[in-house]
Amino acid sequence: MPHSAIALVTLLLSVGWAGAHFVIEESALKVVLPPEAKTKYFKGFDMALANFGAPRYGGALRGRLVYIDAQHYTSQHTCSPPCGYACQDFASATPPVDLRLAGDPGETYIMLVDRGPNTTATTACKFAEKVWNVQSAGARGAIVVNYEDALTTMEAPDDDDEASHRFLTNITIPAAFVTRATGEALKGLLKGGAAVYVSMDWTDLLPKKQQVHWEFWTNSNDQCGSICDVQKQFIKQFVPVAKEFDAHNWTVFEPHYIVWVCPSLYRSSDVCRSQCIRQSRYCSPDPDGNLTAGYSGRDVVQENLRQLCVFKLASDAGRAHLWWDYVTAFGERCDMQSGSYGEQCALKVFDSINADRWSSRQALTACVGQQDSDAPHPIMDAQLAAQKGDDATGEGEVWILPTIRINGIQYRGKMATAEVLRAICAGFAAGNTPEACSKAVDDPCMQGSKGYQDCTARLDGKTQCIATFAGYNCTCGKGYLPHVDAQGVETCLDLNECLSVSQLDPKCTCPRCACNNTRGGYECITDIPDECASGYGGCWHADLKVGAGPPVSFSACKDNLPAYKRALARGLPTADIPLHTCTCPPCFTAVESRGVITCTPKCDLRYCDLEAGVCHADPSSGGSKGGVGALSVVLIVLGVVAALGAAGYAAYQLRIRSIMQQEVRAILAQYMRLDDTDADGELAAGGGGSRLKQMTGGGGGGIGSGGGLGDVGGSSNGV
Ligand SMILES: *[C@@H]1O[C@H](CO)[C@@H](O)[C@H](O)[C@H]1NC(C)=O
Ligand SMILES: *[C@@H]1O[C@H](CO)[C@@H](O)[C@H](O)[C@H]1NC(C)=O
Ligand SMILES: *[C@@H]1O[C@H](CO)[C@@H](O)[C@H](O)[C@H]1NC(C)=O
Ligand SMILES: *[C@@H]1O[C@H](CO)[C@@H](O)[C@H](O)[C@H]1NC(C)=O
Ligand SMILES: *[C@@H]1O[C@H](CO)[C@@H](O)[C@H](O)[C@H]1NC(C)=O
Ligand SMILES: *[C@@H]1O[C@H](CO)[C@@H](O)[C@H](O)[C@H]1NC(C)=O
Repeated sequence: MPHSAIALVTLLLSVGWAGAHFVIEESALKVVLPPEAKTKYFKGFDMALANFGAPRYGGALRGRLVYIDAQHYTSQHTCSPPCGYACQDFASATPPVDLRLAGDPGETYIMLVDRGPNTTATTACKFAEKVWNVQSAGARGAIVVNYEDALTTMEAPDDDDEASHRFLTNITIPAAFVTRATGEALKGLLKGGAAVYVSMDWTDLLPKKQQVHWEFWTNSNDQCGSICDVQKQFIKQFVPVAKEFDAHNWTVFEPHYIVWVCPSLYRSSDVCRSQCIRQSRYCSPDPDGNLTAGYSGRDVVQENLRQLCVFKLASDAGRAHLWWDYVTAFGERCDMQSGSYGEQCALKVFDSINADRWSSRQALTACVGQQDSDAPHPIMDAQLAAQKGDDATGEGEVWILPTIRINGIQYRGKMATAEVLRAICAGFAAGNTPEACSKAVDDPCMQGSKGYQDCTARLDGKTQCIATFAGYNCTCGKGYLPHVDAQGVETCLDLNECLSVSQLDPKCTCPRCACNNTRGGYECITDIPDECASGYGGCWHADLKVGAGPPVSFSACKDNLPAYKRALARGLPTADIPLHTCTCPPCFTAVESRGVITCTPKCDLRYCDLEAGVCHADPSSGGSKGGVGALSVVLIVLGVVAALGAAGYAAYQLRIRSIMQQEVRAILAQYMRLDDTDADGELAAGGGGSRLKQMTGGGGGGIGSGGGLGDVGGSSNGV
């Protein structure tokens, strides 16, 4: 059989080209500015995704449209072929084109280029080469205009030459393909002279699911040049990601292998016998193209089937992720070049991943079955069915390797970890995106990034950067509680950590320590000096004899730490709160002269209760003289009236306080589980602390820093 016949026979996919159903993955290209153009083209244009580059799945790229062409660009640039085709490196154009120097720094450019040229004189350059030139010129996106009114998927060049390989691995911008009519419309807008801004939108590319289902279509053949290398590299790098996503049940993954079929006419030919298994039922092209030498297609199909069986057994054992381990190890240890590709090596690899005996060699060989048995294999039939896709759901046929299908839709773009991960992450339903997705390419919240800087600099508590696929959002950071008001506006309330953490953080609770509530956090202040310990804080003091004993030391210095701590915890200014006060001790009365307080005993200290400060009558004086003077009666009556009044006032205060406390607790209860004793104790001890401070939106500070119940009640009205 001549060599050319191999190509003829083996290139038949399961359904044959005539019945093939190819889906061109399309997305929206919209004009953003100028306004009249936006209105005119409000529906946007279709753009077909390229099979290389880095589409921003789930996001959009907005930028200024440029078309480097003598007719449209202000300065005249010459390239060969004309610059509009982007076949020549723009740095070598005359004069050179560098968009990074063209306009405002930070401006994003999207470049329009033409397909071709398909004149006979000059040969057209490859899509990937155009896009590489566009990227090198400083544009962030490429739009290739077709020379006819049809769309197609721009493929990566499949030749093995060094140059195209370099383009492919180094292209980091997205590329899309538009029809000639779309290109004419866009060029028309540019001719108008005004700056044209467009948005390439990939937000609705994939159906959104709670759990993303994705398929990886591959082949165990390792002699297919750069495609095989890219595939091997991708598997190796993607394993940890795939495993993590599977282990958390975020994704359901399924490997698939493309199956070729042998036309019935050739079933008994050598060509099919050499490239197919199970009596020419399932085939794969000969890896080296020589039917009589080296590995044959049937070796490849057999290994594909084995890898599918590994996946089946592993899935049945609840360890589907081991498939990744198998294929990585197989790729490393059983390659065609060294001649180790085949069953023997495969079984060794299987043993290594089956070290803890969740399956057996017998189970694997039973699943694979006899290479030449005249019977269909359910797993291979399932591959044939799956690769046809499903017209009803828009699931395209798989016809190139490697292919990834995410939620039934084919992934278009570079076969690289960051790009594929971004696409998988774009497949999650709103609110269901795993946090691990924030690790996806160019994380806008990465430390030092714009999002990170914008959010951390905010004064309204929205200090945490959340990566969204359209960019980033700032939300309430650590130490703040989100609060949404009736208008749906979210504000962040400062959490007063001192009211709870002060009991937990030992650095804040030592006898001479305090907790300072700061916006979004707290700090412990340690070693607060005891000013009464040295020189009585400059207050009056005296050693006085009380009766016959040794002299007793009396001082007017009073430590004010409790009041200071309370003020700090409540976020009150402490500048006016002294660490000590000069207050005469019990049994003394204060006499102030020229700002200096001196204390004198009220009575003979022997007859004074030094704690309560109450003087008793001198027993030696014979007690009461009998009878109570009229003045005394009046004083007693006044005293009783005053005491009753004070008691009534205190009761009133207590009641107000308890009502206030209930309100505060009601507010707090919306945000956290309250520990009854804790909160009560603290609120009572501090006379009511403000656990929450309302923060205003915008760049302002808090609404007053005052604590106290009154303030909390005040802000609760707005809550
Ligand atoms: C390029 O080729 C296509 C078909 O091969 C043809 O329809 C089209 O007119 C050609 N375009 C140019 C600019 O020659
Ligand atoms: C392309 O990327 C490779 C590494 O992947 C690098 O070595 C090479 O210099 C890059 N080529 C260009 C033209 O930037
Ligand atoms: C994932 O799902 C399986 C079966 O549905 C379950 O046994 C397993 O516990 C789940 N794992 C996690 C992390 O939720
Ligand atoms: C195939 O391999 C054999 C043995 O190495 C060799 O003799 C033959 O020329 C090869 N055929 C082709 C078409 O390369
Ligand atoms: C980002 O913030 C905007 C405005 O607050 C909101 O409409 C949008 O839903 C947020 N996006 C995400 C992913 O949270
Ligand atoms: C407490 O923190 C505030 C900042 O929130 C600061 O201005 C104040 O000086 C701190 N107080 C003390 C005593 O450190």
